[in-house]
Amino acid sequence: MRVIIVKDYDAMSKLAAKFIREQMEVKPNLVLGLATGSTPLGLYKELIRMHKEEHLDFSKVVTFNLDEYIGLPKDHPESYYSFMWDNLFKHINIPESHIHIPDGTIVTPEEIESGRLPIRKIEAYCEWYENEIKKYGGIDIQVLGIGRDGHIGFNEPGSSLGSRTRIKTLLEVTRRDNARFFDGDINKVPKYALTMGVGTIMEAKTLLLLASGENKAEAIKMTVEGPVTARYPATIIQLHPKAIVIVDEPAASQLEYEYERA
Ligand code: PGA
Repeated sequence: MRVIIVKDYDAMSKLAAKFIREQMEVKPNLVLGLATGSTPLGLYKELIRMHKEEHLDFSKVVTFNLDEYIGLPKDHPESYYSFMWDNLFKHINIPESHIHIPDGTIVTPEEIESGRLPIRKIEAYCEWYENEIKKYGGIDIQVLGIGRDGHIGFNEPGSSLGSRTRIKTLLEVTRRDNARFFDGDINKVPKYALTMGVGTIMEAKTLLLLASGENKAEAIKMTVEGPVTARYPATIIQLHPKAIVIVDEPAASQLEYEYERA
């Protein structure tokens, strides 16, 4: 694992964008795995700047998002579909047909809670999503944020470390953290999500995990220096042959050993 400690959020975002840009120069049809949340926003802003000011070309790039809430229509302002269009896709020249975001409308929270799940439909959809990734030759770089509870994608603690794309129930800590996007009201935060599995994520050729801020320090300490455990699904990246972790100083503040600084 390559751990790079940078000064702040801005430096983290710029270093991540530079890395992606370098890979796009080598492979213009790069397959990018994308994440949502506050963490990658600065990275997306920098990629948009590179596109507008330096003509970084996304016309051949293909993207796969990690996850999506269940229970929000696509056009809901807090759906990850809206998030990705508002914060990246509408500002760059990526063809719509190259964009993949899990469809959180294939099942409703009511169906999940009633126990009358359209299991075949869900399984067929999840299999289709995984096969699309394979069709494009797999994900070249998977961008990851990390939850305070150590989740990657929406793979909450206890997720199988070999899991594939499926429905997960969100933990209260995650819903509380995300309530800031829903008028501070945890009751408005969806309870379920569709997410790539830990096993799906681990098949990406490179993992690029970003974390900023002191509230991520414990999760980063576990991810980098803790034992591999489903208690903190992010710890599995210790087994990945090419995992890069870019963290700012506050997120790195609990790390015990010395790491690269940029
Ligand atoms: P954040 O979320 O980037 O908004 O902190 C990260 C995550 O939950 O994976």
